[in-house]
Amino acid sequence: GKVAVLLGGHSAEREISLKSGAAVLNALLEEGVDAISFDPANRNISELLTLGVDRAFIALHGRGGEDGTMQGALQTLGIKYTGSRVLGSALAMDKGLCKQIWRNLGLTTAPYRLIEQAQFSEMDCQAVLAQLGGVAMVKPVCEGSSVGMAKVSDADQLQQALTLAFKYDAQVLVEQWLTGQEYTVAIVADNVLPSIRMTTPNEFYDYQAKYQSNTTEYFCPSGLSEDEEADIAQLSLAAYKAVGVSGWGRVDLMRDAQGRFNLLEVNTAPGMTEKSLVPQAARQAGISFNELVLTITKEAR
Ligand code: DAL
Ligand code: MG
Repeated sequence: GKVAVLLGGHSAEREISLKSGAAVLNALLEEGVDAISFDPANRNISELLTLGVDRAFIALHGRGGEDGTMQGALQTLGIKYTGSRVLGSALAMDKGLCKQIWRNLGLTTAPYRLIEQAQFSEMDCQAVLAQLGGVAMVKPVCEGSSVGMAKVSDADQLQQALTLAFKYDAQVLVEQWLTGQEYTVAIVADNVLPSIRMTTPNEFYDYQAKYQSNTTEYFCPSGLSEDEEADIAQLSLAAYKAVGVSGWGRVDLMRDAQGRFNLLEVNTAPGMTEKSLVPQAARQAGISFNELVLTITKEAR
């Protein structure tokens, strides 16, 4: 049957998704697959049926594409789709719920506070920051690509960062700052790929460092010992399964001063440009970009 690569969409990560989708479509066409691109921001998703599509590669990032809503629409239309089902997609989109589930299972994730927009005006920023050790990351709960995030180390900064984050979401996560040594682990068809370590001269691996910088460095192999690599792989797979993620995904982690890995979040439709992280990890495992795309497409259910 025909494959539709879903790309673009309405989220804050639209521009990244257009690039991911273009790379995925190109790979499918190169491999001789009957494939088209389809932007749900411009067309009604039910048109996939009239186009004769029976399978969708979801290259949408963020709200409306990665959060379970598109998955539900496709399921209702009877179109197979890549990656996580409705529940896993919805859970993974919510960084606060993920952390709660991981903590309950004893999977390591940094201390945090969830702030509701309605509580914000009465909140004691000084006290919240002190509880979290004085330095924190502020994140809208349901965003991606570091959109709306800021690092804060005093009450005024926290106040400002929350004001910004609440433009994106009615719930904001304030998470204890860790060392800044960031790792990511890709999982494809339940196989854990080699970890990647990212470094940036920026304060953190922000939107600019992710997409607009040539000073961000990627290390794969990441430089971990064999035992540490086994640890990070085990933790990542456990975190992925705990929130019902399936098919493929990417778990982001931060190392703390004691050398422990802390879970940040899991992405259910990670970036797929040729420079993105999952393709880099696949290449290290001897899997080409085209093979990666074919594997994910074949896993569609
Ligand atoms: N949210 C971006 C696309 C990623 O995780 O790669
Ligand atoms: Mg993300």
